[in-house]
Amino acid sequence: MLNTLPLDLDRDRLPQHVACIMDGNGRWAQQRGLPRIAGHRQGARVLKDLVRCCRDWGIPALTVYAFSTENWQRPLKEVEFLMRLFERLLRKELAEMHQEGVRLRFLGDLSELPATLQAEMHRACATTAHNRGVTFNVAVNYGSRLEITRACQSLAQQVQRGLLQPEDIDEAAISQQLYSSNGPDPDLLIRTSGEQRLSNYLLWQMAYTELYFTDRLWPDFDRAALHEALLNFQQRDRRFGKVPAALTA
Ligand code: FPP
Repeated sequence: MLNTLPLDLDRDRLPQHVACIMDGNGRWAQQRGLPRIAGHRQGARVLKDLVRCCRDWGIPALTVYAFSTENWQRPLKEVEFLMRLFERLLRKELAEMHQEGVRLRFLGDLSELPATLQAEMHRACATTAHNRGVTFNVAVNYGSRLEITRACQSLAQQVQRGLLQPEDIDEAAISQQLYSSNGPDPDLLIRTSGEQRLSNYLLWQMAYTELYFTDRLWPDFDRAALHEALLNFQQRDRRFGKVPAALTA
């Protein structure tokens, strides 16, 4: 286990925020002749260690896509299993996460989730609100287009009430209305299992995010895999639309 930052990583050039699309749980299980839910269970184990790893290595924020607005279309049994898994994990892991300095937050329309799960989520956010070890955002019943649509509705209502002028609507005003309003945008997106799509995830927030795709399935995405992704990230030349410094002279 690599508890301290690997020597070949530059501490000053770590991403401040990593986003993950945790894909491939079902295939991982199928490859082993197990039911799909076994893949979600193993995916949750891996995730727990990655949160701890971000804290150990000095990555301040991690945001994972746990359940999209489209995921309701999965078989009812799988949806119910995932909801129960989220709730069980919150009950079981909250005390330890709190002790380790994890600040938990949720992105998405939580109002459509089971009431008992919503209660655990509120409890988790309130308990960990002042922790500073690592911010762990979990996107549940999340869809980026819906998030942006709701931001537009909210700004339109403010204009209608005379609280805001249309010309005052700028990028910051829109960002502020998003579920992710308080944090920096992701520097790095990791998507596992070989798929190369954004799947309606953080579309506004990822305007300048570096994208990293790996064939590894999520339940196999351990610290060594994160290390590899970070090495790859540190080789990138992030220009944010500008020309490289060497060419401006
Ligand atoms: C995608 O793999 C995975 C999900 C939709 C669920 C992710 C949930 C976890 C990792 C459980 C723990 C999460 C938290 C936040 C406690 P898939 O099922 O689409 O895999 P497939 O593409 O191989 O079918």
